[in-house]
Amino acid sequence: MSLRSSQWYSGNDRNSYMHRAWMRRGLPREAFDGERPHIAIANTASDLTPCNSHLNEVGKSVEQGIWAAGGIPLNLPVVSLGETNVRPTAMLWRNLAAMATEEMLRANPIDGVVLLGGCDKTIPSLLMAAASVDLPAVVMPGGPMLTGTFRGTPLGCGTDVWRLSEEVRAGTLSSKAFLDSESAMIRSRGHCNTMGTASTMACMAEALGMTLPGTSGTPAPDSRLLERSHETGRLAVDLVREGRRPSQVMTRGSFLNAIVTLAATGGSTNAVIHLLAIAGRLGVELDLDDFDRTGSGVPLLVDLLPAGRHLMDDLFRAGGLLAVFKEIADLLDPTAVTVTGRPLVDYLADAEIWDESVIRRRADPLLPDAGIAVLRGNLAPNGAVIKPAAASPELLQHRGRAVVFDSIEDVYARLDSPELDVDETSVLILRGCGPKGYPGMPEVGNLPLPAKLLAKGVRDMVRISDARMSGTAYGTVVLHTSPEAAAGGPLARVRTGDPIVLDVAARRLDVDVPEAEFAARKPAMDGHAEPVRGWQRLYIDHVTQADRGADLDFLTGSSGDYPGRESH
Ligand code: FES
Ligand code: MG
Repeated sequence: MSLRSSQWYSGNDRNSYMHRAWMRRGLPREAFDGERPHIAIANTASDLTPCNSHLNEVGKSVEQGIWAAGGIPLNLPVVSLGETNVRPTAMLWRNLAAMATEEMLRANPIDGVVLLGGCDKTIPSLLMAAASVDLPAVVMPGGPMLTGTFRGTPLGCGTDVWRLSEEVRAGTLSSKAFLDSESAMIRSRGHCNTMGTASTMACMAEALGMTLPGTSGTPAPDSRLLERSHETGRLAVDLVREGRRPSQVMTRGSFLNAIVTLAATGGSTNAVIHLLAIAGRLGVELDLDDFDRTGSGVPLLVDLLPAGRHLMDDLFRAGGLLAVFKEIADLLDPTAVTVTGRPLVDYLADAEIWDESVIRRRADPLLPDAGIAVLRGNLAPNGAVIKPAAASPELLQHRGRAVVFDSIEDVYARLDSPELDVDETSVLILRGCGPKGYPGMPEVGNLPLPAKLLAKGVRDMVRISDARMSGTAYGTVVLHTSPEAAAGGPLARVRTGDPIVLDVAARRLDVDVPEAEFAARKPAMDGHAEPVRGWQRLYIDHVTQADRGADLDFLTGSSGDYPGRESH
């Protein structure tokens, strides 16, 4: 075995001396003998990413596993993104995190990497980076938090924030009670406990084969998470010895397994963008229609918020992701191997469902047909997505008058005005919130409902935007409309009063205005940002649309692990 790190450490010349000397740090010379894989722990721990702040402890267990298997662990802090804090949206920085991680993995003397993530954008950025460097890599998800309760009722992260805040606006919950629930929302360390984007992406990593099977969903404070971390550290050393790379694990078959899993778990719409971006780094053919083709017809089995009732701790108790995989095993590609070298389906023999109200049997699904529907039409030539499982069935076929907002600030300024000409049949349209327009494609697509309609008891309306929505959100919300308004998409030409036709069964999204008249309209570009410098400028000039993963055009594909020229 010839280790990549030997490019730095082997030999007796000045340069190898220099690389070793500074890295000795008390290590014996044999640590650099070319027999021991040097494993980076790409660690997104940060106090400003509270969902990942425990990852240093997780990393300690990973380190122990690496030592135990004869490797050398190296902690590598990488860009971390806290979903609730980072402005204007963590999504703007996902590609920056992926690029920075990719370059640091390539530039350093390492042979493999353990990817420690948790919060929404962290696992996607780590996987994008690992895909582009294609060094042996395994994901260790930080795990979900425990279920918090308020007044005897479980609280779902995100989902219940949306719900309770709308109750306050509707006048059915006092603002004191709302604020009292704040300290109960986040009960423990770990990522959000609904099937939001963090839980979804941990499940996606496992479905892709990039975790030790049976790891994702282990709660953050559970001792078994540290046990899995130890095992994952050991596995990373084996991965290097066996030469198994992300490109051998993340094949088209494993992406289709991820899409099936996304449907069966009721996962976040954000996974569509992240999986497209990861596939783009690997050169795996995957497009928006694969999500509809492969995901439609898959039953929704996992009864978790926001599509259902329970939380991640319940899923773990009920048998976990392996039990879900077992129930849909016939839909999974049996040849798709995991980081262990064995196919995912090899790990299902002992999996069992312990609570059928959380993980439903195939014969008794929550919904017979889940998945993400991909809509097209004159309002979304390159596609838009909707998650029917989180929508109101009676709105999935709907015709209504557009009420158009040019920005999220415009929404906040006018939405609750008694003068706003809107009723429950209206279609709320928000534009200027795509990758280029905001910039960064924030999670504002589930825009709130007008106060006067909330007061009437209305709890859902058709909403359409070029934004994303939080994976914890729900409603009849059409997202990721592509091209976005800022890229010249038709959303920029819609006017208040236009009839909008949504037909999810027919996969259509149209504006019913004569074609010539619509084309002749001047696009409205009021709400768009125009940054002049730095990352935001680079991002706007190079970001692709949502239907291609919103990666930067020059970051698609792989550059391999060649570290470049000697530094001295
Ligand atoms: Fe980090 Fe939800 S905010 S996982
Ligand atoms: Mg989010």
